[in-house]
Amino acid sequence: MKKITAEITGVQGYVPNYILNNKELETMVETNDEWIRSRTGIKERRILKGEGKGTSVLGIEAVRGLLKKINIDAQEVDLIICATATPDMIFPSTACIIADKVGATNAFAYDLMAACSGFLYAISTASKFIETGTYKKVIVVGADKMSSIVDYQDRATCIIFGDGAGAVMLEQSKEGLGLQDAILKSDGSGSEFLHMKAGGSAKPASYATVDAREHHVWQDGQTVFKSAVTSMADVSEEIMKRNSLSPEDVAWLVPHQANQRIIDATAKRMGVGKEKVMINIEKYGNTTNGTIPLCLWEWENQLKKGDNLILAAFGGGFTWGSIYLKWAYDSNK
Ligand code: UT7
Repeated sequence: MKKITAEITGVQGYVPNYILNNKELETMVETNDEWIRSRTGIKERRILKGEGKGTSVLGIEAVRGLLKKINIDAQEVDLIICATATPDMIFPSTACIIADKVGATNAFAYDLMAACSGFLYAISTASKFIETGTYKKVIVVGADKMSSIVDYQDRATCIIFGDGAGAVMLEQSKEGLGLQDAILKSDGSGSEFLHMKAGGSAKPASYATVDAREHHVWQDGQTVFKSAVTSMADVSEEIMKRNSLSPEDVAWLVPHQANQRIIDATAKRMGVGKEKVMINIEKYGNTTNGTIPLCLWEWENQLKKGDNLILAAFGGGFTWGSIYLKWAYDSNK
């Protein structure tokens, strides 16, 4: 019997309207457009404004748009997994809030936390429910309102992040398309280099933690950078090798958008030319779980059925990984 595979049957992204460009950041911290562009590749990022608006607002827009686009009733959805590092609240899960607001009343829903690698972890997890025949329609949404945890007094982090979301539908493939292989890794010893110091159970919020600005992303940028360059390139090379893929076989590299230089290093190691790399970091910065689905959404019209895609990410944890998938449809339909 032919193995059931899980294919992506639709993708939709959402970014908020407000554009925070490098010029505006120059008025907030001591930085400049030239430094930001040359060190990261970022020109602007989107910010979700408005009292009481959390990550679910971004996720709801992406999921609603997805269901409309592929003409699927919300009640047909079996499961929604939301990959996020910035849930609306510690509990309930943001996925539950999204499911409720889009009317997915028959779905169960949960969040998955793997920082910037969350979208990869989530589609790998979701694909198992499809491959085993347990469920037929699973939505994975990667969403983050990074502006809610960014310290706009810290020039080493505030220039990098932005807000955004993307969602994909996973369904059974009759032709063996979709997810082919995944290499997912984690190393908790990296947690000291990239974390949020307070607000979790180890150090609950207090006046002191607020005064010390401990409810923000903190990172040792250079250490994270070095680990990201090596790890993302390693797994991407490994997944190509073990699936006997040459650079010519790869139609697209879909990298997490953390830093243009990390992306370039990964593409170089894979032997894949720039024209095959999805890059939108200049417009959105690092939207954490939103980066990869936002790329798929923006490049959807250029994707062809059978295209070999390599997805790759690195982030807090440390977590990292690479996924090989065959695109399942001609997108300019
Ligand atoms: O997806 C989550 C995972 N995170 C990442 O992947 C981020 C990985 N790290 C990076 O992308 C880079 O390390 C950064 C973009 C964060 C920083 O770039 P860098 O080339 O590693 O800079 P650096 O930290 O080595 O700093 C170089 C200099 C320093 O000045 P001195 O000591 O040489 O005088 C910094 O103080 O640049 C200074 N600097 C800045 N200057 C202008 C740091 N941030 C800024 C800034 N504007 N925003």
